[in-house]
Amino acid sequence: MDHISILQEAAEAARAAISAADDLESLARVQTELLGKDSAIGSVRNSMGRIDPEDRPRVGAELKRVTTEVEGLLAERREVLEAEEAKRRLAAERVDVTLPVLTYPAGAVHLIQQTIDEITDIFTSIGYQVADGPEAELGWYNFDALNTPPSHPARFESDTMYLDYGDPADEILLRTQTSPVQVRWMEAHEPPIHVIVPGKTYRLDAIDATHLPVFHQIEGLAVDRDITFDDLKGTLHYFAEQFFGPKTRIRLRPHFFPFTEPSAELDVSCFNCDGGEPDCRVCKGAGWLEMLGCGMVDPAVFEAAGYDPTEVTGFAFGMGVERPAMVRHGITDIRNFIENDLRFLEQFR
Ligand code: DAH
Repeated sequence: MDHISILQEAAEAARAAISAADDLESLARVQTELLGKDSAIGSVRNSMGRIDPEDRPRVGAELKRVTTEVEGLLAERREVLEAEEAKRRLAAERVDVTLPVLTYPAGAVHLIQQTIDEITDIFTSIGYQVADGPEAELGWYNFDALNTPPSHPARFESDTMYLDYGDPADEILLRTQTSPVQVRWMEAHEPPIHVIVPGKTYRLDAIDATHLPVFHQIEGLAVDRDITFDDLKGTLHYFAEQFFGPKTRIRLRPHFFPFTEPSAELDVSCFNCDGGEPDCRVCKGAGWLEMLGCGMVDPAVFEAAGYDPTEVTGFAFGMGVERPAMVRHGITDIRNFIENDLRFLEQFR
């Protein structure tokens, strides 16, 4: 084969080999194979001195052309492979500087607070104001001013948590009811008064399925010149209809509280069976649900608050929060409210 053909074949083979090289290492190998002294091109280069002088310029020119072409192809291919490798390395060495977003699960209002809010809304919608008072309360406001003498069993240490002892009126205790705010509010305001007082209350009760030593009450107080027992009935009936549904009936049973005269307990007709099912799961066949204590404000309470009992009349009521919430939602254990088990709490979003 003459030198020209050798070079042309070598050029042809070089094109294929160069484009087949798929990384820089094999390209370097291909380069030696194509241009090294043992290659076809190398052997032509070496034999130039021995070529017939007549042929030398033609072979020389072809050698230069082929060598230049192969070098050009190698350089082009190297650039492509280098770019690819840089890309690969960037991808492999990429540092993830992002962090997973911290998501805080959305909370919800606790069922006790939801119940307080709902009851509060019913009363504020008919003109009641919302008040609060101290949880650490004087014996005077929690008992004496509410016509409850020092000898009353509710004042025993077995029932009430004391923070500081003293004369009965000076002693400091954790309020056992929201009723003391009645007197505090009357001291600070003139009639007409329409106020409700949601808040925490404390009693030395052992914890069981229906008792917690810390629980909630909502107190109500209305005072004006001509408030009657009928106003009490009408207001509580309205409340019962709003809270339990429009068909709800009410019943007042005579009772005793030191700070009201007359006093009563309010029952509401069972929202589940309306008094019609002997084995209703809510009222157990009673047809009625005990709801709250109430009555006409005792003249002694008006006197303790600095009001003239011959000038004003009023009614008061006080209800628990936990029990109506339990009755309504079929909750059978009061401890669910404080155990913070999300499986319980999430049901009342
Ligand atoms: N304070 C009473 C209790 O804790 C409830 C109560 C009854 C409040 C009659 C009142 C009321 O305002 O008039 O059992």
